[in-house]
Parts: sequence; structure tokens; C-alpha cells
Amino acid sequence: MDKTREVAVIVGSLRKNSINRKVANALVELAPASLSLTIIEIGNLPLYNQDDDEAPPASWSAFRDRIKAADAVLFVTPEYNRSVPAALKNALDVGSRPYGKNVWDGKPAAVVSASPGAIGGFGANHHLRQSFVFLNIPAMPQPEAYLGHADKLFDANGKLSNEGTRKFLEGFMQSYAAWIAANSQS
Ligand code: FNR
Repeated sequence: MDKTREVAVIVGSLRKNSINRKVANALVELAPASLSLTIIEIGNLPLYNQDDDEAPPASWSAFRDRIKAADAVLFVTPEYNRSVPAALKNALDVGSRPYGKNVWDGKPAAVVSASPGAIGGFGANHHLRQSFVFLNIPAMPQPEAYLGHADKLFDANGKLSNEGTRKFLEGFMQSYAAWIAANSQS
């Protein structure tokens, strides 16, 4: 059997009752046994400033180390103004520097976006993929995951209560496990 792959999960929302965090928690439960998912927090990362490259804040270094140690990265994000939330873009930028030390390099990724709106965060999902090209992140093309009306998918305890979405996300994670196996360098 293949070895267990460590997957860093990045949630693009910082708010306590985030729908996307609930989605991420559901994905942790639905992932196949070949994947071990851990949410890596991004809310404590100071805004990226190139002046700090030589003496980086400890939180940047810790974050970079955690991403480096992961085999793959799963992004779960809302859409802000048809694009990627600033906190998530900041995390991407922090991980990408100093120049030549891009910790995202080659990590097989997948993207899930969720919104109470009908389009399911499509804009954020695809803007994120634009950065992936430059960062050399091989992102799973299919299945795509845009969860619309996502505020209706969870019960009062924050558990996924929609059976169709559960099946879809289970299949999504199986496809992602296969994508990781096919695109891993080790
Ligand atoms: C939003 N929201 C939003 N929704 C959407 O579908 N498309 C968008 O472009 C935006 N833009 C946007 C900008 C800002 C600054 C905020 C705060 C919100 C609404 C958003 O989808 C909603 O607040 C979600 O609940 C955010 O995700 P979390 O925090 O629940 O995971």
C-alpha cells in the first residue's frame, strides 16, 4: 500500500463561524485513509514585506516549515470581491519568498471554494489557480469544486448535513488522493 501523504489544509477565511472552515473540517473526515489532513493557520502571518526577508518574523518561518514538510496542499476558500481573500494571498506570498525558496514548489494541490451565493466562489477558485502557475503548484483540474448556497449545507453543530454534497466531497478527496500519488516527487 502507498505511504500516507501529509496534506496541509489552508482555509481562506479567518472568521470563527466560517463556512469554509466547516467545509475543511468535513474534508478532514471524508478523506481516504491514504491522506492525513491538518489545517495550517494563516491568521497570525504579518503582511508580507520584502524588507523582512533577511530577518523574517518567527510566524513566517514556522509557516514555511510546515508547508515544506507537507506532501500536498488543499485550499478551501471563500471569494472576496470575485477574488482571493487577502489573508490567503498573503499566505501564498509569505510561502513564496525569499526568492528561490518557494515552499509551494511542486506540491500537488486542490481547490474547494464555498459561498452562500450561487456561483460558489468561482472567481476566487480561479484567481488562486493563476498564482499556482507561477508558484509551480500542480493543481487538480477535475473534479472542480464550487459549493454554492453553502450556508445551507451544515447543521447547527457545523456538521455537513447534505448527503449529495457529502458524496461529492468524498469522491473529490478520492480523486485528490490519486492526483497526489500521480504528482508526488517522493
Ligand atoms: C464577500 N462575500 C462574497 N461572496 C461571493 O460569493 N462573492 C464575492 O465576491 C464576495 N465578496 C465578499 C467580500 C468580502 C470582503 C466579504 C467579507 C464577503 C460573501 C462571502 O461569501 C460570505 O461572507 C462567506 O460566508 C465568507 O466565507 P466564510 O467566512 O463563511 O468561510
